[in-house]
Amino acid sequence: MQVFHHIQTLRDALAKERRAGKRIGFVPTMGNLHEAHLALVERAQQSCEVTVASIFVNPLQFGLNEDWDKYPRTLAEDTRKLEGIGCDYLFCPDETEIYPNGMAEQTRVVVPTMTDVLCGASRPGHFEGVTTVVTKLFNIVQPDEAVFGVKDFQQLAVIRRMVEDLCIPVQIIAGDIVREADGLALSSRNGYIGDDERPSVSQLYQSLLWISQQIEQGRRDFIALEDEAREQIRQAGFKPDYITISNSRTLEPAAHDDREITVLGAMYTRAARLIDNVSLVLDRPQG
Ligand code: PAJ
Repeated sequence: MQVFHHIQTLRDALAKERRAGKRIGFVPTMGNLHEAHLALVERAQQSCEVTVASIFVNPLQFGLNEDWDKYPRTLAEDTRKLEGIGCDYLFCPDETEIYPNGMAEQTRVVVPTMTDVLCGASRPGHFEGVTTVVTKLFNIVQPDEAVFGVKDFQQLAVIRRMVEDLCIPVQIIAGDIVREADGLALSSRNGYIGDDERPSVSQLYQSLLWISQQIEQGRRDFIALEDEAREQIRQAGFKPDYITISNSRTLEPAAHDDREITVLGAMYTRAARLIDNVSLVLDRPQG
């Protein structure tokens, strides 16, 4: 695997691949790689001859009181893992390479409306940081395909919308959620979970799953279901952020006759904020 820290040298290398007619797949990450990240690279390998991963802990998407400074940075181990699965290129720029004019002066990419809800409501400016850095990374790598995990459901939806609205010539691929045996979705932030919290922390997933089963069985009292799930999370000892039954496409609150529904949730442990989601497609409209 070739490792690049600079935009121009990566571009030169990828230009050669492109001229040779190779299809380029791209997986952007913030590092501290786990099985789910590697599965995204393997997904890219299925349809592309060349795969590029990036590792950049993007300061623009972290709020002032968030965990940018303590976010785990494990570049040596990450490099070994990517090499182990045959990733071709790793791009790991530093902050001045990505923001040479400083973050305050950086041109921004804003996807309106759908970034104001859910995680966007709890993390103002977060998605603007994501869409700005992902646009830059797309312009640097110019991939044919880019793979994003369904775990960050809202991020995936926002990026799809951005690509459509700005006519960015990249195909966005969704990678399935990878979970621990008890259902906890893998995340770099799981390292913040206390040992005492760990046995009950899959309550977030269990509650989202519970809501989706209730909907499948015909319940349509969405507000009551959301309230009940929040109570389950409190009973398990955690602080719910949001639990929302949404239309899978628009992320707006689901209507009673919606067929494609995603139940999204976020909760706080002592030191982590965890997110998860469960999607369901109903075969027929119910009363
Ligand atoms: P990061 O949190 O490192 O995640 C990188 C990719 O891995 C994202 O597409 C995310 O959805 C996916 N991922 C993480 N955990 C997953 C799981 N358990 N199952 C499936 N996919 C999972 O998301 C970001 O970085 C950043 O916002 C980024 C897009 C790189 C922009 O800075």
